[in-house]
Amino acid sequence: MNQKSNRNLEKDVDKSRRTLLKTFLAGTALFALENALSPLNTFAQQRNSHQTLKAVRYMAVHPAGVGFTQSVASGDPTSSGAMLWTRVDPDITGIDAVSAEHPNQNITEWLGNGTVKNTDFIEKGQAVMVEISKSSDFSTTVLTGFTPVWKDFDHIVRLDVDGHLEPSTSYYYRFTTKNGFISQTGRFKTLPAEADNSPVKFAYITCQDYTNGYFNALDHLADEELDFVVHVGDYIYESVGDPLYQSPIEGRKIVLPGGGIKARTIEDYRTIYRVYRQDGDLQKLHEKHSMIGIWDDHEFANDTYFPAIAPDDSLSPDPERRLVANQVWYEYMPARVMFDKELPFDQSIKIYRSFKIGSMAELIMTDERLYRSPHPCGPATTDKYFSSGCSDISNPNRSMLGTEQREWFLSKLASSDAVWKIWGNEVQFAVLKLFGRHLNLDAWDGYDAERRRISQHLKTFNVKNVIALTGDFHTFDAALMKEDYINDPDSEAVGVELMVGSVTSSNLREALRNALNNVPTNSSPIPLPVLDELIRVLKGRLGTVTTLTAELLLKELQGIIKLENPWMKLFDSTTHGYAVLELSQTKAVWTTYTVDQIETKGARKSLHWQCEIPRDKAELRVLEAGKLLNLS
Ligand SMILES: [Fe+2]
Repeated sequence: MNQKSNRNLEKDVDKSRRTLLKTFLAGTALFALENALSPLNTFAQQRNSHQTLKAVRYMAVHPAGVGFTQSVASGDPTSSGAMLWTRVDPDITGIDAVSAEHPNQNITEWLGNGTVKNTDFIEKGQAVMVEISKSSDFSTTVLTGFTPVWKDFDHIVRLDVDGHLEPSTSYYYRFTTKNGFISQTGRFKTLPAEADNSPVKFAYITCQDYTNGYFNALDHLADEELDFVVHVGDYIYESVGDPLYQSPIEGRKIVLPGGGIKARTIEDYRTIYRVYRQDGDLQKLHEKHSMIGIWDDHEFANDTYFPAIAPDDSLSPDPERRLVANQVWYEYMPARVMFDKELPFDQSIKIYRSFKIGSMAELIMTDERLYRSPHPCGPATTDKYFSSGCSDISNPNRSMLGTEQREWFLSKLASSDAVWKIWGNEVQFAVLKLFGRHLNLDAWDGYDAERRRISQHLKTFNVKNVIALTGDFHTFDAALMKEDYINDPDSEAVGVELMVGSVTSSNLREALRNALNNVPTNSSPIPLPVLDELIRVLKGRLGTVTTLTAELLLKELQGIIKLENPWMKLFDSTTHGYAVLELSQTKAVWTTYTVDQIETKGARKSLHWQCEIPRDKAELRVLEAGKLLNLS
C-alpha cells in the first residue's frame, strides 16, 4: 500500500473511530477496541487472516502537559519526516513501560497500514499513542500509531517518522497514554525535497548553562519563523556548582542525586536533562522547532578528550562515566543515532551526521570530543588557555575528529552538490591569539595540522561556499577561514566562520567582572586563574588608569584581538543571544540577536549584527542599517 492510500484509509479509520468514541465515552480514559467497526480491520484481516488485528485508541482526560513533565521535542528533520521525542513521567502517570536492552522503534504500530500484528504493549498501556497532523487541532491526522515508552531509558519515547511525510510541510504532533495523559502539542517542518532550490532559514545556538541565567534568548528564538534550529553543543553543563567557575543564581540551582557538584552517574546526568527540559523557554523552543544537535564537552565533562578523559577531574580515562553520558544524551536528544551500551564508549554512539536541505545546503555536523587527541601542550589550565604554545600543535598525528570521521567529513565536503556547505562545528576554527599567546588551545588552535588539512582539502577540491557555525567560546564573532593564518594571512579565504554567543554561559565581560570582584565566575570561556593572568597583563598595558572596570578591560582586549587576528572581522563577548542564517542562490545572510539580560525571566531582544556572504566568494560584508559597512 502506498503512503497516499495509507492516509486515505487512516482518515476513514479516524472518522469511524471518532463516531464510536463520541457515543461510547463521554470523557473517561479509554482503551477502545474497534474491531467490529474499523475498515482497517476488515482490510487487514483479509490480508493476514492468522493475525489478531485491532484498531485501538487512547483518549485524553487530563489537561495537556500533565504527566509529560519534559514536554515534547523533535529533531533531525528530513524531507519526509523527523525524530519525535517525549518523556512520560512515571511518577505522575504510573506508567508500566517496556523493559528492553535496546529501544527498538521498529515495533511501532501504525494504524491504517494493515500490519498491526502485536498489540500486547498497546493493550498493557506500555506505549503512547502518537498523532501527527497538518492542523494544530488534529481535526484530521496524517498518521496515528503506538510506540513504546522505554523504561530502562528514563521513560523516553523516540520515534523516527522519516519516510512517512511530505516535504516542506509543517506538522503538529502529540502523545497520549492509555490512562488519559496527553502531552503538549509540538510542531516541526520537514525539509525541502532533494531538487528543491528554495531558500533555507534556520537558527543556531550554543552554551546554555542553566545555573547561570534564564533562557530568555530561547523564548525569542522560539517565536522566529524557521525551518529548524541547530545546537552546536553545551546543551547541558555537567557541573552544577563548581566553585572554580560557577555560582548558581537564585532559583536556578540543580541538586544532583549523588550529592556532588558534577554529574558522575546516570541518575546525575538524567537529573540535569530533566531539570533543563522543565525550563519553560527551552520547552517552548522544542515545541516550536525541530533541533539538529551535537554535543561539545559539557554534555560529558569540561575540555574532554579521548579516551573518555575528564581532565578537570582526573587524567585517567573514565569510560563508564562517558558511556552513561552518551546514553543520557541519546535518551534526551531527538537525534537519529543509535546507541548500544554493550559496546565500548567510543563505539556506543556515533553522532556525526549530515543533512541534505534541498539543493540549497548540506549541513554537516561533526563530533569534536569523543575521538580527539589530548591538548597539545599539556593538561594544565595554563597549558590550554593563554599558552605560549609548543611543537605538538602542528603534530600531524594529532586529531580532533579522529581518522574515520575526518575521512567522512572531507569526502562529504568535496562530494556535496549543494550550493552551501554548512559545517556544524563545535569549537573555534580561526586562530585566536592575544599578546602572541594562544588564547584557547582547546579549540582548533590546538589542532593546527588537522585544521590545515581541512583548509587545503577545500582549496584542492575547489569547495566553495563553506560556512562553519561555531559555539563554545561564549562570544559572537565572524572570521575568515584561512589555509595558513600565520605564514600567509593574506591568502584567499577558504570559508567563513560565524560564531554564536552563548544563551546564558558567561561571556568574557561577565567573567572579567567576576574576576575583578573575586566572585566565582559562571561557566566562563576562560578559567579563573587565566583570567587573573589576563587582567594582570591588561592592567600593565592600561598603566595609570585608576579605576579598572570590566568594560574598560574588555574594550582593550577586544581591540587587541581584532588587531592581532585580522581575519577576525567582528568580535563581541559582552552579550547573549542566538544567530539566524538565511541561504539563497546568491548569498547567505547572517543575523545575530541579543537579549538585554539573563538574570530574571523575560528580556528585550535586539538586532545585533547582520552580515552577507556572497555566493562563490569567501567574504564577509557587514551590513549596518541595510548598508554595507567597510571594515578594511
Ligand atoms: Fe560552553
